[in-house]
Amino acid sequence: MDEPEQARAYAEADFDEPNEQFVEQAIEWLGDLPDTAAVLDLGCGPGDITLRLARALPSARVHGLDGSPAMLAIARNRLASETDGRVAFIQGLVPGAELPLQSYDAIVSNSLLHHLHRPACFWEMIADTGAPGAPVVVMDLFRPADAETARELVATYAADEPEVLRKDFHASLLAAFEPAEVLDQLAACRLEGFAVDAVSDRHMLIRGHLPR
Ligand SMILES: C[S@@+](CC[C@H](N)C(=O)[O-])C[C@H]1O[C@@H](n2cnc3c(N)ncnc32)[C@H](O)[C@@H]1O
Repeated sequence: MDEPEQARAYAEADFDEPNEQFVEQAIEWLGDLPDTAAVLDLGCGPGDITLRLARALPSARVHGLDGSPAMLAIARNRLASETDGRVAFIQGLVPGAELPLQSYDAIVSNSLLHHLHRPACFWEMIADTGAPGAPVVVMDLFRPADAETARELVATYAADEPEVLRKDFHASLLAAFEPAEVLDQLAACRLEGFAVDAVSDRHMLIRGHLPR
């Protein structure tokens, strides 16, 4: 999603409802955070979820990390109009990004996992950057049973979107992991206490607390 055209199409798509739902589920899972908690949003894209989180957690610092300059340009533009200094967008890759803080009180991520060829690096980064006991909420697509189901999902949920987004959605569905594969990834990173739940016909929600 490095191309400006992709970033613009993604930012202009109407993700209002799913993003709000994700933020509501995240807030519920994050529970009582310290007053000046630091929250990390991995793969923040154009920043809609990062900014919704910041509004829902009015005293928290919220940092969004993304590898795409085109996405971050849109995120920073949105930030300019409504921030009070608690939100920052950082360019960097999972794995390896340098973050402003050594440790975060909570970590969220929506739709990044399936982009990664080596998913272990995602869970390792979460384990390394989250404080002991930190709540973690991750949403991602899961891979449908077959290519025909993937085509049906694109037709059902993205029929009116631009071609570039329909192609991305189709590719993302095929690249996504199955819940059982995510459970294996978590176990390999010693995060076996995390739960993986299918929450729609295409999304899974992964929740847990880092070991203390
Ligand atoms: C489908 S978008 C999701 C954006 C945002 N989380 C949302 O829900 O609107 C995936 C994002 O992950 C970013 N991304 C992909 N691979 C990455 C990596 N290795 N490190 C950091 N960001 C990455 C892309 O640039 C893109 O902005």
